[in-house]
Amino acid sequence: TWTMNNVIEEQVAVIREQVGDRRVLCALSGGVDSSVAAALVHRAVGDQLTCVFVDHGLLRAGEAEQVEKDYVAATGINLKVVDATERFMTALRGHTDPETKRKIIGREFIRVFEAAAREVDAEGHIEFLVQGTLYPDVVESGGGTGTANIKSHHNVGGLPEDMKFTLVEPLRTLFKDEVRRIGTELGLPEAMVWRHPFPGPGLAIRVIGEVTSERLEILRAADAIARAELTASGLDRSVWQFPVVLLADVRSVGVAGDGRTYGYPIVLRPVSSEDAMTADWSRLPYELLARISTRITNEVAEVNRVVLDITSKPPGTIEWE
Ligand code: XMP
Repeated sequence: TWTMNNVIEEQVAVIREQVGDRRVLCALSGGVDSSVAAALVHRAVGDQLTCVFVDHGLLRAGEAEQVEKDYVAATGINLKVVDATERFMTALRGHTDPETKRKIIGREFIRVFEAAAREVDAEGHIEFLVQGTLYPDVVESGGGTGTANIKSHHNVGGLPEDMKFTLVEPLRTLFKDEVRRIGTELGLPEAMVWRHPFPGPGLAIRVIGEVTSERLEILRAADAIARAELTASGLDRSVWQFPVVLLADVRSVGVAGDGRTYGYPIVLRPVSSEDAMTADWSRLPYELLARISTRITNEVAEVNRVVLDITSKPPGTIEWE
């Protein structure tokens, strides 16, 4: 019978055959695909694999810890963590244009990952790079694999031109639901296996305006509440994604106790979708929305208003930037 266990065993054999006793590198983002791909490669070749996790300081509450602790505990993977928070914050300072913010993050990510990859490579030559490419990605890009000059590969963002890797793509024949089953089978944390899609630039594109650490803290607190309440309501899997956005350049008047407040609005952007190309705003239960709103305005001092985005895609995009 065709089970996830057979798929795992088969892939382990294929990876061992491809890699032999040589070394493999993987960039972990905390997302489902790269996490499962790395775990599978680790199952196959153990410590020949080194993972690099660039913490850009733009993740949601608990996510860096999930990669650094829970994931390592579950897999025993050899992980190099680079805390580049300060570097990203400095590079983003003063910038408000969405495309500029994205470009800065992409550029810094490449530089940090490149430096880390070089260090790992210096410890022993690396020949392979793991990619969490899924079957739908293969179909969309018209097939094609093999040796890649990673510089032009958008999934990783680029590596030094003189470092050429052969790709290891153990998920190439699989769909997302199968990847999740494999992740579960490999013992990955449930929160990781079922994580909603999250953009590479992270919370930086959900702070509308300049990104500062104070603003990130506000957004992180609001986002953690929205996610916890969605999870508690059992509706995680009925929603494609639930961006929470801070309108950092907008303030409105409110009232708390006998005092006037002048705080930021938070936007809730839960969407339903099949593939993120189109999306509809999720009709979440009013009771759930009310709980999220009450908790955010009670618990996050800087926020005095919570609004719901009821725009489909098109014309809106899922993210606000
Ligand atoms: P939009 O906002 O264009 O987003 O409707 C579509 C999907 O893509 C995700 N997204 C990104 N993912 N890097 C990523 O890995 C990015 O720069 C990026 N920008 C948007 C978004 O979260 C949604 O799932």
